[in-house]
Amino acid sequence: MAEHLVKFDTVSEPISVQTGILLSEAAHLAGVELLQPCGGQGRCGRCALQVTSGTVRRRSTLRLSQEDIASGYALACQSVIEGDISVSVPPQEKIERLLTSDRTVAEVTVPVGYNFQLDQDIQRHILSMSPPDMSDQTDDWSRLQTAIRQQTSIENPQIPLSLLKRIANVLRQGDWKVTAIFDSHSWDCPDCPPRLIDIRAGHEQPTDPLWGAAIDIGTTTVTIWLVDLISGEVRAQVAEYNQQISRGEDVVSRIIYASKNSGDEQMRSLVLETINKLLDLACKRIKSDPPVTPSQIVKATIVGNSTMIHLLLGVPAENIRLMPFVTGVNQVPTLTADTVGLNITPAATVDCLPGVASYVGADITAGVLSSGMDDNDQVTLFMDVGTNGEIVLGSSEWLATCACSAGPAFEGAGVQFGMRATKGAIEEVWINNTTFEPTFRVIGKVKPRGLCGSGLISLLAEMFLTGVVDKGGNFNTALNTTRIRQGEHGGEYVIAWSEQSGNGRDIAITHVDVDNLLRAKAAIYAGFTVLADSVGIPLDWVEQVLIGGSFGKYINVEKAIDIGLLPDMPWERYKFLGNTAVRGAYYALLNKQARAHVKDIASRMTYIELSADNTFYEAFMSALFLPHTDLSRFPSIEAEMANKQD
Ligand code: FES
Repeated sequence: MAEHLVKFDTVSEPISVQTGILLSEAAHLAGVELLQPCGGQGRCGRCALQVTSGTVRRRSTLRLSQEDIASGYALACQSVIEGDISVSVPPQEKIERLLTSDRTVAEVTVPVGYNFQLDQDIQRHILSMSPPDMSDQTDDWSRLQTAIRQQTSIENPQIPLSLLKRIANVLRQGDWKVTAIFDSHSWDCPDCPPRLIDIRAGHEQPTDPLWGAAIDIGTTTVTIWLVDLISGEVRAQVAEYNQQISRGEDVVSRIIYASKNSGDEQMRSLVLETINKLLDLACKRIKSDPPVTPSQIVKATIVGNSTMIHLLLGVPAENIRLMPFVTGVNQVPTLTADTVGLNITPAATVDCLPGVASYVGADITAGVLSSGMDDNDQVTLFMDVGTNGEIVLGSSEWLATCACSAGPAFEGAGVQFGMRATKGAIEEVWINNTTFEPTFRVIGKVKPRGLCGSGLISLLAEMFLTGVVDKGGNFNTALNTTRIRQGEHGGEYVIAWSEQSGNGRDIAITHVDVDNLLRAKAAIYAGFTVLADSVGIPLDWVEQVLIGGSFGKYINVEKAIDIGLLPDMPWERYKFLGNTAVRGAYYALLNKQARAHVKDIASRMTYIELSADNTFYEAFMSALFLPHTDLSRFPSIEAEMANKQD
């Protein structure tokens, strides 16, 4: 049999191997350390090596892009040696980047060309006045109005009572030199006079920050970005579970709770408490002397599903869940912080972006805005995976939307060791298919405390592909491993033993968790198949799939397809956008044209009600399996299964 020389760059001498052996075996013979978390199944991509001269026969190129292959990358466990080759062993970080960079959420950057003077409705002016004396007894407000008229182009500004009460003190404190902040709210009322929202003693510098907040009220998680409106930069990002979660995990149970006794008041104060604490935290994250405080925030843009917006404002939400599912309000008029209950500048503008229907709210219109799908000619499927799975299908010509209740599992709630995508969360898992031992990656490279959404998807996929669970999600207790055991809630699989974990407990996924995840993924998959059917578009026609949600920084599309959460189409069509709702709120906070645009998006969206007949229920029941009852919908998994059986 023919022999070939294989030279690894980390080993001084080449080795001689027989033709037809795997590159991973050659690496082993040469003493090259190779990570193989999936047990050489070609699933994890961690054994990638770069062939720098000669060629190998690649049995599988899963997880490698065309560019990776063109630059010589090959999966060692899937590549057969048939000639002399030289191989470079890349550092592990390089492989990590190779595997995840195309699915990493884009960093937040200031929209190109942002110009505070041109794009922003907020204006800041410095004003100087001569003090009153016995020959000039003009009242303070008239004096201020005259200064405004003479030193800015603003005529007849409005002033709220809360500010009127403070004028006398501020004018004297600043020795008749003040900084006045206005909001011209031109996007919804171009002819209205600007509103004075704050007046501060002394003259601020043009480059001094002016603070705004983009707020996304999710059913499970509240996210806030604190923004310097002058530069447009996001200076702090904070998120925390919505405290309302203690009164119900999904929107329907919250509505029911709110409709009883003083439940609505409780709901309102719980979410306000969450928001106000987060605003405080965001300000503390900014290093500044004197420190930034929430009272300096002059504008807030809020998004959230329709129920969240109703509960925040104390607008009865009861009809959202009752036929014919009508909201109290889709476009909330512009409000002020003191009326809403936000602890920021009392007269600051609070702008709740528009929703479309009971179950398609401002989080989705904002998501469409930030994804740019409505400006794209390609047929695009946009989905926001949170507690509600909201889906939009369309292009620059048309937009159709629907919503399904997924539950909070992908946000880490309702799962025993679920957590948000923060430090200590397992975000990706591989299981060796012979030993059933897991390998995982933890955010922040610390000991794990739980699993975030992407970790849960990855774990479920690995458990399915290695036979730890069957297609119904049941644990296979016959496997020879101590990782599968009987727990309090039936079968469970241990991902990290207590000695390895950051909380001193075994981190396990239980049968109940698996059930919750199956229900969540089935609801989402059923949602977009029914939506596509209802507009007569085969899923194959979808040219790109944009995914928003709180999965974490990375999503492994392949694993989401493996469990039947996403349709089986080429990975290149997928883009992971992160939290599109708060990003949309940020764009609308910065730019009046973007604010007008989101209003236009809301008016263009056609809402499809999924509960109108049994179609959704049937699609949901069929999707409750891994990946689906109808395997022909998932040809790549069907092929993988067939491969295994050969
Ligand atoms: S892909 Fe080769 S070991 Fe996982």
